[in-house]
Amino acid sequence: MPRSEPDAAAVTETTEAYYDSDEADSFYAEIWGGEDIHIGVYETKDDDVATASARTVVRVAAAVDFLAADDRVLDLGAGYGGAGRYLATRFGCEVDCLNLSDVQNERNRILTEKAGLADRVHVVHANFESIPGPDARYDVVWSQDAILHSGARERVLSEVARVLKPGGRFVFTDPMQTDDCPPDVLQPVLDRIHLDSLASPGFYRKNLGALGFEEVAFDEMTDQLRNHYARVRQVLEGRRDEMVERCGPDYVTRMLEGLGHWVNGADRGHLTWGIFHFRKAR
Ligand SMILES: C[S@@+](CC[C@H](N)C(=O)[O-])C[C@H]1O[C@@H](n2cnc3c(N)ncnc32)[C@H](O)[C@@H]1O
Repeated sequence: MPRSEPDAAAVTETTEAYYDSDEADSFYAEIWGGEDIHIGVYETKDDDVATASARTVVRVAAAVDFLAADDRVLDLGAGYGGAGRYLATRFGCEVDCLNLSDVQNERNRILTEKAGLADRVHVVHANFESIPGPDARYDVVWSQDAILHSGARERVLSEVARVLKPGGRFVFTDPMQTDDCPPDVLQPVLDRIHLDSLASPGFYRKNLGALGFEEVAFDEMTDQLRNHYARVRQVLEGRRDEMVERCGPDYVTRMLEGLGHWVNGADRGHLTWGIFHFRKAR
């Protein structure tokens, strides 16, 4: 069931306040490395979180395969902009990093300026449920582990369809529940991210199909979701005292608990994750 407008707006407000908070900013900067804050692709269980997370960007870019220097990319929920800088450096394309959090956007601007990419990577403060700009502007819409935060995911997908050019590509990752996940079992996971549902592969297939998209591929890597949350939890445990200093004991305790719920959800077969690639009809 789509949420009512006020409910979706309340979710957005809570998410914005969370990502703008000092605690969250310190946590993501310190534990994740402050460039990429999504699920990593691990070659060994001891991989550094930042290295594994950077690897995911390379994997998602490989799914897109090729971008021309005059292609324009929109990154939805861009965090600190690591993917945008990678794409601009690798392909020379222009990337609009759309994100709700001013705190993250500021860090994105500083990192982008330092990398000498400010002419190609643009930071836009906005809600992806209402994307600013004209129709058919982008060749690629990209998103990593962000759409889960929406209380109006159908609207996000309609906006993606609106701003993509005919034949344009939508590549994204999103932690999802499995299509056959029983009701209520994910409540502990959902409570931590202030939502009442996760999307599922079936949700994306149905809604994007109805919007005229064709599925190109789904590279399913649920094991990496499990690896990632377990690894982040282990790193946070190892740096517990320092992170309690930075983020406070409540934040750290809740985060450790929350990460444990993600690991359990994956172990029980209720969660899934991977790289989706869709193409909009010509
Ligand atoms: C887990 S982080 C992922 C960040 C980035 N995609 C990455 O992979 O490094 C989720 C991101 O989604 C953004 N976000 C959540 N809800 C949003 C909304 N309604 N509109 C725009 N951005 C949103 C958050 O601010 C945050 O940057």
